[in-house]
Order: sequence, then C-alpha cells, then structure tokens
Amino acid sequence: MKKVASLLALALLGLGLNAQNIKLPEPKKEGGESILKTIAIRQSDRSFKDGDISLQDLSTILWAGFGYSHGEKRTAPTAMNRQDISLYVFLEQGIYLWNAKDNVLELIKKGDYRKDTDRPNGFASKVTNIAIVSDLDKYDVKKNHHTAYTFGVMSAAYVSENMYLAADGMQKNIGTVTRYGGHQEKEVAEILGLGEYQRILLFQTVGYKK
Ligand SMILES: Cc1cc2nc3c(=O)[nH]c(=O)nc-3n(C[C@H](O)[C@H](O)[C@H](O)COP(=O)(O)O)c2cc1C
Repeated sequence: MKKVASLLALALLGLGLNAQNIKLPEPKKEGGESILKTIAIRQSDRSFKDGDISLQDLSTILWAGFGYSHGEKRTAPTAMNRQDISLYVFLEQGIYLWNAKDNVLELIKKGDYRKDTDRPNGFASKVTNIAIVSDLDKYDVKKNHHTAYTFGVMSAAYVSENMYLAADGMQKNIGTVTRYGGHQEKEVAEILGLGEYQRILLFQTVGYKK
C-alpha cells in the first residue's frame, strides 16, 4: 500500500501536480461580448467585493493574458518571440506560479500575501492579484539593458491588455485594473525569490465588482 502511495506521489510530481498545486479548469475560449464591443467598454475598476475570483474565471484570464493559443504561439506577442513573461498569482491561500503549458498553479508560498502587492489598506488587498514578471535575461540584458527593459515592459503591457479584455468581455461582473509594479517591487521580488533580472512590471488586480 505504502509502495503504491509513493509511486502515485512520484507520478503526480512528474506531472507537476503535487497536493499543493492547483490544476485549473479549461479556460473558456468562446462567448462573452464581441472583441470590438469589449474594446469599447474596457475600463479600470477599483471597487471590488472581498474574495478571489473563481478558478474558472482565473483560468480564462491567465490564458487570455499569456496562454498558448495555437501550437507554440502565445496569446500576446513578445519581441523576437522570447516569451519573457511569467505570471505569479496571489490568492488568499498562497502565491502560485502559473504553469501555462499544463494550466497548473504551482505553489510558491502558502499564506495571504495579496496585501503585499499594494499600499496599506489599498483596494487590492482582498482580491486576486497577478504579478506580470519579465525575465530580462531573455533579451541579452547584460549587453543592452535599455533595449531589454523596453522589450520587457512592452510584453507586460500586451499581457495586461489581454487580461483587461478577457475580464471586461466575459460579462461576469469581473473588474480589473493594472497597477505599476515598481512601488512594491523590492519586497514582493524577495517574497517570490526572483532573480536579479526578473522584473515585476505590473500587478493585474482582478475581482468581482461591487
Ligand atoms: C503603466 C500603467 C500603470 C498604472 N498604474 C496604476 C496604479 O498603480 N494604480 C491604479 O489604480 N491604476 C493604475 N493604472 C491604471 C490607470 O490609472 C488607468 O488605466 C487610467 O486612469 C485610464 O483609465 P481606464 O483604464 O479606465 O481607461 C496604470 C495604468 C498603466 C497603463
């Protein structure tokens, strides 16, 4: 029995599915408003009901942000197709790195760190936050920091806009706002254990509107 349990644990680990990770439901790739109407209604929201969004809605928003669309293509463009963006999800129960290939949230740290992405008592402290992180090393950052940083910032902006459009287009009372990552970057990078050239460029706050 013990042997079967450890074999099962090993198999799950191999799939990136340990008990701490969360396998997300399939993202919804159809429905909602038309893309043009969604562009017309897109806006930033800052008034949310307390609580994280559902795993179903989270899955759709992450996929829209930087999922795999067809083959190795991503839903957002990146310079030279370097695919430099990682998405870290802050939920009440912990922080997760989104594994886009398997659509799994991989546990980074247990605990509620959502407030660490915001100013004290800010509007983002009790809802889902997604850190949009660029790995500037993918752009030869040591040779040309300015270009690498510019490319990373641009990638992050496309990912953020896709998340806006998913949130506003789904018609599920989801609100979102993108926030500058620089204010809290040092503290949050430490919590996440990021490398020197992994930059937190934006936080995408997502919640159900009040
Ligand atoms: C790069 C960038 C940084 C932003 N930073 C913040 C922020 O730190 N806090 C915030 O509440 N909104 C932030 N915003 C959202 C803007 O305030 C918002 O997009 C702008 O007021 C226009 O409103 P709209 O998005 O509803 O059209 C940011 C937007 C961008 C593009």
